[in-house]
Amino acid sequence: MSNLSTEPYKGVRDFYPQDLSAQKYVFDVWRRVAESFGYVEYAASVLEPSELYRAKSGEEIVTEQTYTFIDRGDRDVTLRPEMTPTVARMVAGARQALPSPVRWYSIPNLFRYERPQRGRLREHWQLNVDAFGIKGLEAELELIEMAYRIMTAFGIKQSQFTIKVNSRFAFDAHFKAQGLDADQIKRVAKLIDRKKKIDDFDAKLAEIKPGLDGNVPEPVIIKELIERLSSRGVENVSYDPEVMRGFDYYTDVVFEVFDNHPDNNRSLFGGGRYDGLTGLFGVPDVPAAGFGMGDVTILDALATYGLVPEYRSTADVHLCVTDASAFEDASKLAAELRGQGVAVSVDYTGRKVGDQIKYAERLAIPHVVVVGPDELSSGQFKVKTLASREEKASSRTALAKTILG
Ligand code: HAM
Repeated sequence: MSNLSTEPYKGVRDFYPQDLSAQKYVFDVWRRVAESFGYVEYAASVLEPSELYRAKSGEEIVTEQTYTFIDRGDRDVTLRPEMTPTVARMVAGARQALPSPVRWYSIPNLFRYERPQRGRLREHWQLNVDAFGIKGLEAELELIEMAYRIMTAFGIKQSQFTIKVNSRFAFDAHFKAQGLDADQIKRVAKLIDRKKKIDDFDAKLAEIKPGLDGNVPEPVIIKELIERLSSRGVENVSYDPEVMRGFDYYTDVVFEVFDNHPDNNRSLFGGGRYDGLTGLFGVPDVPAAGFGMGDVTILDALATYGLVPEYRSTADVHLCVTDASAFEDASKLAAELRGQGVAVSVDYTGRKVGDQIKYAERLAIPHVVVVGPDELSSGQFKVKTLASREEKASSRTALAKTILG
C-alpha cells in the first residue's frame, strides 16, 4: 500500500458530480446567451508555442504566470494562460476564408501559475467572446450588452453589479500630451492598476514625472458608449479612469464588471478592444474586441446571491426492486421508460426498500417507483416524489407521463 494524496494538484479543482453540475449550468447560460447574439463556438488545443505570449500579453503573465516547458522535440511550449492570442492566431490564419465580421465564442480551460486565493486558481474555465472586423463602437456596445445579458440571465439584478468603462487610447493620449514616452505611460498604467493596493500613489506618480496630472477627463467616446448602452436598457455603466486591464494588447475601450455585493465586492470579468493582435501573424490588422469571463468568480458571485441551482441527479426516477427475482423484469421496464424519454436508474442491491429510497434521496433523484412481483403482475405502480412525499398511482403505460409530470 502506498500513501498518495487524494488532494488534486495545487490550485486546481476536481469536479465531483455536484461541482460539475454547477459549472455545467454556468456553461449552459454562457452558451445560450452568446448564441442568442449569433456567436458561434470554436475551440483549440491547450498547448501553444510560448512565443505567442511573449509578443503582446505583457511581461508578468509570461515570465511569472505561465506553465512553460521544453518538449521532447526541443520546442518551447506553454499551457495557454488566456485565449485571446489563440483566437487572434486562428482568425489571422483563416482570414481570407472567414466572412467578416467574425463573431466567435469559446469556453477554454486556462492555466496560470498564480498564488491560489479566493477567485484565483491555477486552472479556470473562461468564456471568451470576441468580434473581429468591426471598427466602430458597435462591437463594444454589442459585447457589453451581451455581458449584461449574461449577468441578468443568471438572475443577478442590474442594481447588483456595475460595468466600469475606460479608454486606453484616451489614457495614453492624456499622458503623451504631458511628454511621457511609451515606457513611462506603461508605468503609469501599472501604477493606476495597483492604486487601491498602495498608499504612496502620489509619490510614485511623481517619481515617473514630477507634476504629472493623473486625472484623465472622461473621453467623449465613453460618454457615447454609456448613452447608447443606456438606451438599450443597460443602465449600470459608468466611467472609471482606474480600469486598466492587465494586458498590453488593449488599444481603446476597456471594461470590467464588478459585483456590488459587500461580501464579494470584486471584479468579475472584463475585456476590451485590441486592434493590433492579428498583425503579429504577418497579416493586416483586423479590428477586434472581446471579453473573458471566468467560471470561478461567477460561481462565487452566484453562491453569494444564492443563485446556484439546486443539484439533482440525471436520473428522473430510481426503480427500487424488492427482490432479485424481479431484476430482469425491472430492467425491461427501465428500457421501456428510457425509450419514452425518462432517465432511469435501477437498484440491484437487494437491500431493504427503505434503504433504496434513502439512496435515491442522497443522490437527489426526484422520484422512486417500487418494482416487485405484485406491481409487475398487476401492472399498477406508485410514483413517489421524494421532495413532497406525494404518491401517484399509475398504470404501466402511463408511467413515463406520470414521472415526467
Ligand atoms: P483576464 O482579465 O486576465 O482577461 O481574465 C478574464 C477573467 O477570467 C477574469 O476577470 C476572471 O473572471 C477570470 N480569471 C482570470 N484569471 C483567473 C484565475 N487565475 N483564476 C480564476 N479566474 C481567473 C483575459 O484573459 C483576456 N484574454 C480576456 C479577453 C478576451 N479580452 C478580449 N477578449
